[in-house]
Amino acid sequence: MHDIAPSTPASAADHAAATGRRGELLLRVSDLVVGYGKAEVVHGVSFDVHAGEFVVILGRNGAGKSTSLQAVSALLPKRGGKVEFAGGDLTQAKPPQVVGAGLVQVLEGHRVFHALSVEENLMIGTWTRGRRGDRTRLERIYALFPELADKRHQPASRLSGGQQQILAVGAGVIAEPRLLVLDEPSAGLAPMVITRILEAVSALCREGMAILLVEQMVETALRFADHGYLIETGRIVGEGRAEAIRHSDALRSVYLGRHATA
Ligand SMILES: Nc1ncnc2c1ncn2[C@@H]1O[C@H](COP(=O)(O)OP(=O)(O)OP(=O)(O)O)[C@@H](O)[C@H]1O
Ligand SMILES: [Mg+2]
Repeated sequence: MHDIAPSTPASAADHAAATGRRGELLLRVSDLVVGYGKAEVVHGVSFDVHAGEFVVILGRNGAGKSTSLQAVSALLPKRGGKVEFAGGDLTQAKPPQVVGAGLVQVLEGHRVFHALSVEENLMIGTWTRGRRGDRTRLERIYALFPELADKRHQPASRLSGGQQQILAVGAGVIAEPRLLVLDEPSAGLAPMVITRILEAVSALCREGMAILLVEQMVETALRFADHGYLIETGRIVGEGRAEAIRHSDALRSVYLGRHATA
């Protein structure tokens, strides 16, 4: 694996200084193997997220990003590997236990309940962690995403694709997870809206919510992230501080192929 911020640290403190990672370890995924039918598509992926950290996983279409995230969240079966979260072992956990432990994933493709109103969709987000909807948290979401406030009593089916995506993010945020996992929240959104969503989640991150993001908007994602991993055909091929990744050859080779010069 290509270490983009190379270091041979003598101690944990040196390691933290060299890698820029802060906070206690929150999620550790080790040697994750996932597949569909006869095909194995994730071949031993490992990555960490520390408490309060913003981590991004970058890679081309079909690299295995969604598959990895869904296996971590127990939405797909694991063929191998280990998932440790907040000091517990979630390797064999079912989705409700994963959510109960504070790991909430917003799925790719703005999945919301079309027949329910915007507010009802958000309320479901509050139930997932056993905290029935209180107004304060709803109002917080409306402040972060005013377009949802304007349409709070309308059925979600009447939102645009981009607004549904924002609603899906809002329903994840309102659960107040320790780790919010976002799988391509930018899909179908205008650049300014993407920036606003990432600004909103960054603000939550500064308040202590860890973020694990998969994103095709590479430049934008790296602007907000602390740490990044590069994935190529089901393997992690690089990691480092977001700033170092941004200027790395490894990033270019993942997106443009090994012999890219531009
Ligand atoms: N339900 C499925 N059945 C069979 N193969 C699948 C299924 N979902 C994904 N795959 C395959 O697994 C591999 C990884 O897919 P995955 O969806 O994890 O990629 P990704 O990195 O999230 O890509 P994208 O950026 O396009 O969302 C791809 O080769 C894909 O064709
Ligand atoms: Mg995907």
